[in-house]
Amino acid sequence: MEVVIAPGPETARIAADAIEKLLRARPQAVLGLATGSSPLAVYDELARRHDEDGLSFAHARAFMLDEYVGLPAEHPERYRNVIEKEIASRVDLAPGAVQGPDGLADDLVAACAAYERAILDAGGVDLQILGIGTDGHIAFNEPGSSLASRTRIKTLTRQTREDNARFFDDDVAQVPTHCLTQGLATIMSARHLVLLAQGRGKAEAVHQLVEGPVSAMWPATVLQHHPHVTVLVDDGAASRLQ
Ligand code: F6R
Repeated sequence: MEVVIAPGPETARIAADAIEKLLRARPQAVLGLATGSSPLAVYDELARRHDEDGLSFAHARAFMLDEYVGLPAEHPERYRNVIEKEIASRVDLAPGAVQGPDGLADDLVAACAAYERAILDAGGVDLQILGIGTDGHIAFNEPGSSLASRTRIKTLTRQTREDNARFFDDDVAQVPTHCLTQGLATIMSARHLVLLAQGRGKAEAVHQLVEGPVSAMWPATVLQHHPHVTVLVDDGAASRLQ
């Protein structure tokens, strides 16, 4: 695991560099996209490179990490819409090139299985962008998640719903209670994992991720077993590292 401590804009550039290098070497690369605040500066930087440096996503594909269950199709916080707004619509990803778990499916279990198949059929994810929750979750694999888990339905913890209430008028009651999420084993199948975290609120989770024992109670610690992980943190998020 490589850990880089640098100011936020610098960490965004490092992540964008990794994605640009991949796309220039392999235009048909498969990217893994995260929602939330942590990758936003990376998406801004990728959009800038698309506009100014001709970085193209035209042959790339992308898979989302997770999706809320039951948010209406047009809801602005539906992750599919967030990804469309924050990155897909700002670069030249082809229509249909981004896929996500279908949180509106009648049969959610079948939707999860279909999603796993789609990732496999695409040849797996080359580079997965990740954030980390204050409780150590990655995607929506909350504490107690099986380290061998695959895409499935999960209940969101109170902590995560409170953390995400800022996207729902600061009203935790509006935050969905369930989600579909790639499992920890699904994420571990990606070939390169790039995790970003900013601020002191993430310090304990980053400490556990880098220095804690591998445990389902801190799901991100499973990444210690991955051969190619880049952790990009600012001073605040790094403040509990030894
Ligand atoms: C989002 C996701 C979550 C977030 C995490 C951190 O797709 O999978 O695991 O990465 O909740 O969220 P932010 O970046 O908003 O602090």
